[in-house]
Amino acid sequence: MATVRVSALALPLLVLAGACSRDASQPAPQTAASEPVATTKAAPLASASAAPASSGEAPAAAPGPTERVPDIEYVPTPENVVDKMLAVAALKKDDVLYDLGCGDGRIVVTAAKRLGVKAKGFDVDPVRVAESRANVKKAGVEHLVTIEQKDIFEVDLSPASVVTLYLLPELNVRLVPQLEKLKPGSRIVSHDFDMAGVTYENVWTVLAKDHRETTKDREHYVYLWKTPLKKVSAGKAGAER
Ligand SMILES: C[S@@+](CC[C@H](N)C(=O)[O-])C[C@H]1O[C@@H](n2cnc3c(N)ncnc32)[C@H](O)[C@@H]1O
Repeated sequence: MATVRVSALALPLLVLAGACSRDASQPAPQTAASEPVATTKAAPLASASAAPASSGEAPAAAPGPTERVPDIEYVPTPENVVDKMLAVAALKKDDVLYDLGCGDGRIVVTAAKRLGVKAKGFDVDPVRVAESRANVKKAGVEHLVTIEQKDIFEVDLSPASVVTLYLLPELNVRLVPQLEKLKPGSRIVSHDFDMAGVTYENVWTVLAKDHRETTKDREHYVYLWKTPLKKVSAGKAGAER
């Protein structure tokens, strides 16, 4: 495991330098207030966010009877955090990357365009699916990338060798039974959120602005796990986190 130990005093300096890595035995970072939040069944925020802001136009349609409400609203990963996620995944040409909750498709498009890997994005929000497909076309990577409108909890992950996530801690944990079906040596990379009960290989900090923020950078976390997953036994969980 390529873990770099960082003392508490050295950490802020490394953070200011742009990125650092943290030992897996250190306490997990706290999450920031501007991160994505869970949606409620009554408020399909991802669709609403794409609706016109004001003035007499009809509000975004509520999901139809068969449409799944997103478990978390759409918040894009900043480009330099995408770069870090792809770098720590150590992508090779024969990898297959799945982004679960792909938003505007930026992770799958960047992976295909820059590294030539096959990638698949999944999102339940039809607005995001349309946006992703348009971005795939615009980038000219239709031969490498497909976008599916699908609930991530129904996706068979066995064809993937890299899985990227920007969800919520509890959603990461809910994905564990699916992630356990990945081939040995697969990498899972999560923006900002840990996966309780599974020991990560490493976590890095990247400074970036959030999409609505114009002035201030904040620390974004990039977690890496490898398969087979290292489950934390119940008795040790408290000590390791
Ligand atoms: C925080 S955004 C991340 C977008 C993108 N992966 C990125 O990092 O820029 C989460 C995305 O997950 C989608 N989502 C939420 N719950 C989902 C579910 N159960 N199945 C599929 N997509 C879902 C949302 O519509 C949203 O686009």
